[in-house]
Amino acid sequence: MHCTRNITDSVTWVGGCDRRLALFENLFPIPRGVAYNSYLILDEKTALIDTVDSSISRQFFENIFATLNGRPLDYLVVNHMEPDHCANIEDLMLRFPNLKIVGNPKTFTFIQQFYDLNLEGRTVTVKENDALSLGKHTLRFYFAPMVHWPEVMVAYEESERILFSADAFGSFGALNGNLFNDEVNFDRDWLADARRYYGNIVGKYGPQVQAALKKLSGLDIDTICPLHGTVWRSDLGYLLEKYDLWSRYEPEERAVTVIYGSMYGDTENAVDILTAGLAEAGIKNIAVYDCSSTHVSTLIGEIFRCSHLVLAAPTYNNGIYPAMLNLLHDMKALQLQNRTVALLENGSWAPSCAKQMRALLEEMEQMRILEPVVTIRSSLKGDTLESLYALKDALYASLTETN
Ligand code: FEO
Repeated sequence: MHCTRNITDSVTWVGGCDRRLALFENLFPIPRGVAYNSYLILDEKTALIDTVDSSISRQFFENIFATLNGRPLDYLVVNHMEPDHCANIEDLMLRFPNLKIVGNPKTFTFIQQFYDLNLEGRTVTVKENDALSLGKHTLRFYFAPMVHWPEVMVAYEESERILFSADAFGSFGALNGNLFNDEVNFDRDWLADARRYYGNIVGKYGPQVQAALKKLSGLDIDTICPLHGTVWRSDLGYLLEKYDLWSRYEPEERAVTVIYGSMYGDTENAVDILTAGLAEAGIKNIAVYDCSSTHVSTLIGEIFRCSHLVLAAPTYNNGIYPAMLNLLHDMKALQLQNRTVALLENGSWAPSCAKQMRALLEEMEQMRILEPVVTIRSSLKGDTLESLYALKDALYASLTETN
């Protein structure tokens, strides 16, 4: 049975949710599931904006046929050619023999790479700023290359001021019936997953997101319809501000997230003493994560949120503890920058983890390392406790400095 929601009188959400998938992209845990959004515009011509993942094809086609109510589908706009949004192109072409696919030259290159389709006579190729009239509705196309794939474009519907934004402004998380941002408690229930989605999926491409934000800043937008997560029809400034901060690698909060690896509990013990000292001094809402048991995508999300970072880990095989090394590689790959970092290492005979963590951080931009760097030999003793307190004081001073 179809399950749709109206965006406006003539625009319908025809997507669906997958609550069974464990790992998005076979990488990122999604315990809250994920939504694949697709939108159908009914006018003199009918146009579908993107399709969905193959896991929800049955629901998707029921939604489309119910909404079309016997009409043909004239256009499929492919804003993004990643398979979680384009798995149904071939089925649509078969079911609607006069359907035209709207995309840019890179879109069609990717369609041919992924699928064996005969596109002859079935394509409409658009350039930047081209328009497609559907009757009263007009879609205008703006390219957003590398947000986060090269073919990505967005479509702006001029009469109802709706931006179909591809993956931009999306989030992990299945919809609970509530589709719109004003139907949910976004700060409480969605923000962490929206940040984790941005940081891990799009985070590497901050300059390209900045370029897209600049390009779209001249548009009068009432509604943002992304391919995942909630549809935004109010408080757009909230969302745009988050995207502006994230894409400039500016933290959302002056706050500290502490990430540690610990084999036998001694590094963890030092972290507990450090954070208790910070709390005694008045620092609130300290976040602490064990990098061995917390997925790296969650850690990345928290680093996007916080201004300060503590990395604490043992030396392992003469190198950095593997789970911490994985995080540092991910931070570098995602271009994370502009954070203040405290380092703590452990090593029973040749501690070298901190030196190697510092070297990796120095390969990133604007990473400020606090002094002292604390070295523990096996477990915390009186002399290293002094050094740990000194680091706590430096961290406190940096967290509370006014500038
Ligand atoms: Fe949701 Fe980039 O695909």
